Amino acid sequence: MTDNKNITWHDYAITKKQRRNQNGHESFIIWFTGLSGSGKSTIANALAQTLFIRKINSYVLDGDNVRHGLNKDLGFSEKERAENIRRIGEVSKLFVDSGLVVLTAFISPFQEDRDQVRQIVEPKEFIEVYVKCSLDECEKRDPKKLYQKARAGKLKNFTGIDSPYEEPINPELVIETNSYSVEECVNNIINYLEKMKLI
Ligand code: ADX
Repeated sequence: MTDNKNITWHDYAITKKQRRNQNGHESFIIWFTGLSGSGKSTIANALAQTLFIRKINSYVLDGDNVRHGLNKDLGFSEKERAENIRRIGEVSKLFVDSGLVVLTAFISPFQEDRDQVRQIVEPKEFIEVYVKCSLDECEKRDPKKLYQKARAGKLKNFTGIDSPYEEPINPELVIETNSYSVEECVNNIINYLEKMKLI
């Protein structure tokens, strides 16, 4: 940890409120959490398309992509996952300040890490969406063949196999990708956002 005594916070000339007014919509984080293969990225991208058509500016931050760049120095120990989520939380907060809707798709297996992100933004700015799908089904889908690798002992600390996933205690939404189509899941989220007057 570096010494930050000599750092001063600068307020920006343009406020979050002004940016939101210009965009014509609120800005907030939709935080998708769930097992690998549960459908987080699929739903986030489908939702982004729906929002795009409605002229709502959004951006998807996705685990696999962010780990190619910003977080390429991080692995999958509990400590590194916590740091992964902390950085994404901070980046997401900047996106919210810039007036955008952020859709994050990270396993984010630990309640404490997710709660910490919730705490750095305003209450209405963090919508936790549990992308619920049984381990059995995720393992059947195994789009990246990583479950297979983990079962064969060739991949350690794999979430759901030898690393835990803590189900959200009190998420704003639960979407069950076992039982509902992508379109139904997206509609469910859109309905929630409308109900909360966020879009
Ligand atoms: S998180 O736990 O820190 O939130 P994140 O969402 O960034 O994880 O990355 C998960 C993706 O990394 C998975 O979808 C998978 O493709 C890949 N991956 C590689 N190794 C692991 C592992 N040990 N556990 C989980 N995912 C892994």
